[in-house]
Amino acid sequence: MVVLEEHLSFHTGSLQASRPTYAGFMRSVRVSLGDRSYSILVGPGLLSQLGDRCLALGLGARCGVITDETVAPLFAEQAVVALRGAGFSPVLIRVPSGETSKSLKVVGTCYDRLAAHRLERKSFIVALGGGVVGDLAGFVASTYLRGMAFVQVPTTLLAQVDSSVGGKVGVNLKAGKNLVGAFHQPKLVLCDLDSLNTLPPREFQSGLGEVIKYGIIYDAGLFRRLERDLPKILRRDPMALAATIARCCAIKAAVVSQDENESGLRAILNYGHTIGHALEAISGYGEYLHGEAISMGQVAASHLSARLVGLDSKSVERIRNLFVAAGLPVSVSLTRRQRERLVAAMRLDKKVSGGQIKFVLARRIGEVIWGQNVPETALQEALDLVCP
Ligand code: NAD
Ligand code: GLY
Repeated sequence: MVVLEEHLSFHTGSLQASRPTYAGFMRSVRVSLGDRSYSILVGPGLLSQLGDRCLALGLGARCGVITDETVAPLFAEQAVVALRGAGFSPVLIRVPSGETSKSLKVVGTCYDRLAAHRLERKSFIVALGGGVVGDLAGFVASTYLRGMAFVQVPTTLLAQVDSSVGGKVGVNLKAGKNLVGAFHQPKLVLCDLDSLNTLPPREFQSGLGEVIKYGIIYDAGLFRRLERDLPKILRRDPMALAATIARCCAIKAAVVSQDENESGLRAILNYGHTIGHALEAISGYGEYLHGEAISMGQVAASHLSARLVGLDSKSVERIRNLFVAAGLPVSVSLTRRQRERLVAAMRLDKKVSGGQIKFVLARRIGEVIWGQNVPETALQEALDLVCP
């Protein structure tokens, strides 16, 4: 059985009494999309407010809480207690942890559980977990009963700064990553800083790969603050984390609000992803975490940027150094055959248009351009530096 589902009978309220309040840390970011606008809240202790926040949104009485087997023992009780305390009837659906759960098979099992518990169109889904759970649960919400509301409760750094925001939901096919999906915006995103305390260091660093990306694509000031404050962030200092996560969410919100369906500007969020996704693909989606793969991809993209759009060599060095300081890989040793497979995988990327691979390139730190064609020789030279 791929998916386990259960009713829980925890006692309401017991978890809230022990929770300290850090009101000053709370940040709020708005994603402006007309009647699909929503808030992203960043702060400690937010999971215990899940029920009240859903109540304030006027969501239906029943809900499915989709989570994974790692996150469930850590946070499912708190989520269910909070929902029950506000009068909701939650049903917990657990899926195996990891990328393999982003599959149509697991989607089907989730539908079956929702049907068995008679969730209605006014019911809603809570995605409690990392980007895998968010993408899967969001896709289930976008399609079950032709679409129902959902709330994102991201529990990894990567999901808090990126995947929970912007409404891209979907699953993988054997042929490639995220090939089936939809744009379906959540009603609310709750980034509880406390949930990051249990995140393994490698997963935390993977999230930093996306954090650094925001500095490169949009905000030179953020990049400088990261250079300065990285030790605090690596120590998971709550104040530094709250400010950083909120800034990343604000950048993503600004981009998505202008170009929800990626007809232009939104492509900048894919900086470093063409090479990064190809690396993930040729290594079977197991060897490198997403943030690690796009770290190498972003370093390669910075070399391409220097060659093609004038990024200065000092900036190339600063970009590389920041990924290194974050504990992320900046090069990978590939055989000739693997390198050929890497380039072939790039050609299968969703961002290929008219047979041409389209790149996002940086003119300077904080400013990128998208839709760039890259000559084969320039690509091979950049790969020589990153994939020797
Ligand atoms: P993940 O969801 O697999 O989480 C990483 C691991 O950490 C998992 O084993 C998970 O069980 C565990 N975990 C989660 N929260 C935890 C916690 N608080 N404490 C301890 N362990 C915890 O991976 P991810 O890095 O969060 O997300 C990667 C996925 O996100 C990929 O599938 C990627 O394609 C997708 N993504 C989507 C978007 C988007 O816009 N939709 C953007 C970027 C990435
Ligand atoms: N993570 C890329 C996007 O949301 O567009």
